[in-house]
Amino acid sequence: MGSHLCDRFIKEHYEVIGMDNLITGDLKNIEHLFKLRNFEFYHHDVSKFVFVPGHLDYILHFASPASPIDYLKIPIQTLKVGSLGTHNLLGLAKGKKARILVASTSEVYGDPTVHPQKEEYWGNVNPVGPRGVYDEAKRFQEAITMAYHTYHGLETRIIRIFNTYGPRMRLNDGRVLPAFIGQALRGEDLTIFGNGSQTRSFCYVDDLVEGIYRLLLSDYHQPVNIGNPDEITIAEFAEEIIKLTGTKQKVIYKDLPVDDPKQRQPDITRAREILKWEPKVSRKEGLTITYEYFKNLPEEELYKSKHRFA
Ligand SMILES: NC(=O)c1ccc[n+]([C@@H]2O[C@H](COP(=O)([O-])OP(=O)(O)OC[C@H]3O[C@@H](n4cnc5c(N)ncnc54)[C@H](O)[C@@H]3O)[C@@H](O)[C@H]2O)c1
Repeated sequence: MGSHLCDRFIKEHYEVIGMDNLITGDLKNIEHLFKLRNFEFYHHDVSKFVFVPGHLDYILHFASPASPIDYLKIPIQTLKVGSLGTHNLLGLAKGKKARILVASTSEVYGDPTVHPQKEEYWGNVNPVGPRGVYDEAKRFQEAITMAYHTYHGLETRIIRIFNTYGPRMRLNDGRVLPAFIGQALRGEDLTIFGNGSQTRSFCYVDDLVEGIYRLLLSDYHQPVNIGNPDEITIAEFAEEIIKLTGTKQKVIYKDLPVDDPKQRQPDITRAREILKWEPKVSRKEGLTITYEYFKNLPEEELYKSKHRFA
């Protein structure tokens, strides 16, 4: 997501500084930006003190392991970047008198008992379950961001992002969309965890970036859901991937992981009203673009099973 945001802000003629410790990210996603005069990159862990010289107008805090396969392997770093990292960046924003937007998540709703999820819903999270490290880090992130708004008058924005996909995802990041496409490309069966009746709603990355951009420039400091309400069961989604890729493989079923949410669908009434935003890219279009991206990756990418911290 960070690379797509850099692209968008460069396109809008901003001077952009990217900061990343590359724990789950990959420099090749931004290497096309290195030749630009209005782009700089700092290799830095934001859970440590952050120093940036000069003036800043906006800070977008998207640093965090984001997929379950990542945050389950690096739980402490995940908790630190959501808490200490957010604190450091709020401090930076205060010092620079900059506006800050923090990337929260639909995971703050946990395994929701309300459907679809509105921003007023407080969530159903197990703090000591395996996913708690991510969910609670993000809930803390929202709380401290709101506290900086209330007590320091900082200009803050909170986006709750629902499942997003697009080019530059890692095939091996454990999320269902790259997992299915990776299996289809390798000629393996598609694995569904559980019986496939659990639902997800997938938002194409360009739609998400537009929502972020509008929220950042708005004057609204309460959380806003950004996602695509077009909900689909995982079993139906597997069928769509089979059709898209033309694979002859079948679907196989495995046990559902602990605390896996059963239903996910954003209520985007707030985004529609306040930001005049709604998703424009259909799943069919978005999947076609994303599949093209994965299909054109070098073959060794298809077989990379582990990330560098694994
Ligand atoms: N992709 C989604 O569907 C989704 C959904 C909800 C929320 N989000 C949030 O959006 C943000 C970006 O997610 P993404 O999907 O692009 O994941 P990603 O893993 O591709 O990107 C996250 C980036 O943060 C970097 N990072 C992690 N810890 C860091 C630290 N301590 N210091 C500096 N950099 C650090 C990683 O190296 C990586 O480049 C995350 O905050 C995530 O929680 C994503």
